[in-house]
Amino acid sequence: MELLEIMKARHSVRSYIDRPIEPEKREVLNKMVEEINQETGLHLQIIYEEPECFKLALIHYGIIKGARNYICLVGKKSKDLEEKTGYYGEKLVLKAQELGLNTCWVALTRGKSQAKVNPGEKVTCVISLGYGSNQGTSHKNKDLKEVCNIDASSPDWFKLGMEAVQLAPTAVNQQKYYFTYAFGEVSAIAKFGMYSKIDLGIVKYHFESVTGRKVK
Ligand SMILES: Cc1cc2nc3c(=O)[nH]c(=O)nc-3n(C[C@H](O)[C@H](O)[C@H](O)COP(=O)(O)O)c2cc1C
Repeated sequence: MELLEIMKARHSVRSYIDRPIEPEKREVLNKMVEEINQETGLHLQIIYEEPECFKLALIHYGIIKGARNYICLVGKKSKDLEEKTGYYGEKLVLKAQELGLNTCWVALTRGKSQAKVNPGEKVTCVISLGYGSNQGTSHKNKDLKEVCNIDASSPDWFKLGMEAVQLAPTAVNQQKYYFTYAFGEVSAIAKFGMYSKIDLGIVKYHFESVTGRKVK
């Protein structure tokens, strides 16, 4: 399936059925994790068959029901850790979607993860993973003009990139990012907001993977 179609099919799923992830699918995801870690120095991990992480989530908003697998986004504390984990976390989310699995980014509504966190490292976020009892629903979008400087003269690839960006998950659907096209190049910033640096990595991945253009 084409990447844009995978993005269209992906929604946050907060309720999971009792079906283990098959070994072949685990292998694909584990291999991607290994490659990312080697390439970036991150310490991403996938924890399977461990329901405790989501059991403490007693707050009403976004309780994650029945999740027993999760991707743990871990890396050395640094200025760009949030953005980097957002970028590579979303790469894994879209691969999971392609494999017929469902996901939800979870910053708040969870307990302690079982990830191995070395001294100097931290967990920026986790992503629940498994077979959903539903496929989720589309989120509402801000007006395109609020999130980028698109106009009649913008190239088609910028429009396509922004379509992909607007399909991306962001914390509490805040969409606190801004993309600027100028002189053939595109840049993006995170506006002030909780987890907006993680969001920035996520939306940059959407833009770059669909257009093949680098976002500064
Ligand atoms: C960094 C980040 C943190 C999130 N944290 C939570 C959370 O703690 N609990 C939850 O239920 N959803 C969480 N979400 C999911 C968002 O609410 C969701 O992505 C957004 O509402 C858009 O919906 P969609 O993913 O279905 O497109 C988080 C998303 C992101 C990107």
